[in-house]
Amino acid sequence: MLLDPMGAHARVFVTRHLPGGALDRLTAAHEVEVWPERLPPPRAELLARAPELEGLLSLLTDPVDAELIEAAQRLRAISNYAVGVDNVDVEAAGARGIPVGYTPDVLTESTADLALALMLGIARRLAEGEAFVKAGQWQTWEPALMLGRDLHGATVGILGYGRIGQAVGRRLEGFGCELLTTSRNGGVPLEELLERSDFVTLHCPLTPQTRGLIGAEALRRMKSTAYLVNTARGPVVDTEALASALAAGEIAGAALDVTDPEPLPGDHPLLAAPNLLVVPHIASATHDTRGRMADMAVDNLLAGLAGEPMPHSVNG
Ligand code: DGY
Repeated sequence: MLLDPMGAHARVFVTRHLPGGALDRLTAAHEVEVWPERLPPPRAELLARAPELEGLLSLLTDPVDAELIEAAQRLRAISNYAVGVDNVDVEAAGARGIPVGYTPDVLTESTADLALALMLGIARRLAEGEAFVKAGQWQTWEPALMLGRDLHGATVGILGYGRIGQAVGRRLEGFGCELLTTSRNGGVPLEELLERSDFVTLHCPLTPQTRGLIGAEALRRMKSTAYLVNTARGPVVDTEALASALAAGEIAGAALDVTDPEPLPGDHPLLAAPNLLVVPHIASATHDTRGRMADMAVDNLLAGLAGEPMPHSVNG
């Protein structure tokens, strides 16, 4: 085949099957290999394909780091199937002039929905209640059975007030909540947000500045009746510090869609902590949203391979 540096039949690797029909458009235009397994391609598989690779559609579970980018000398476009791009070395890609696509906006509302579900789930003890009923322990209606805390009327601290943080805020207004927000662009000081909030919900990207932001000191500042909710990225929270804070009753509970490490092994010490609700990184996991993410990721890759600006790129 003749080399066609800007057009058809680029060699593309997609690191997992995606929901919906978006990949059909990619395979119609390019020479596409889709990794067939449920688990991510091992590093060696990615590196083995790197020298021939012109386009890469990656997931948040695939480290697209400087080593991989260096090994992929023909790579012209990276499209990440996520709004977060902390798994991609954007600087290394940019240095080679490789655009990095991402999937903003389409998952905002679904992620905000799940943040609310987690707040209600932990504060109203839903998982605990379900386990209680299924274990046959429900004997009668009791005045003090499974008392929780109200979300309506609560003070909620939103850390990271971008698209998703604001979507969470819109929902909480309907619950009559007082909102405290903090972000790169202002808001209340983080200390005040932590000290005053009944719920602290995280919506910031994972960056060197936010890694470990919620550690022992931040958790100590929270009220002992407050809940921590994380639908951002696991490493924004120091896992060990969170496990200790829960065990010591420094906070009332935590509800996590994301963890560090991820996946969290079934025997991880955090899972032994009391008042923890944890789900497996599913904030964007609705049929519609994951399909729209696939469309957007494919649009980004098609544009990048055609040498056109990606509709949604983190580096121009
Ligand atoms: C993202 O897109 O970054 C989410 O974490 C998964 O949809």
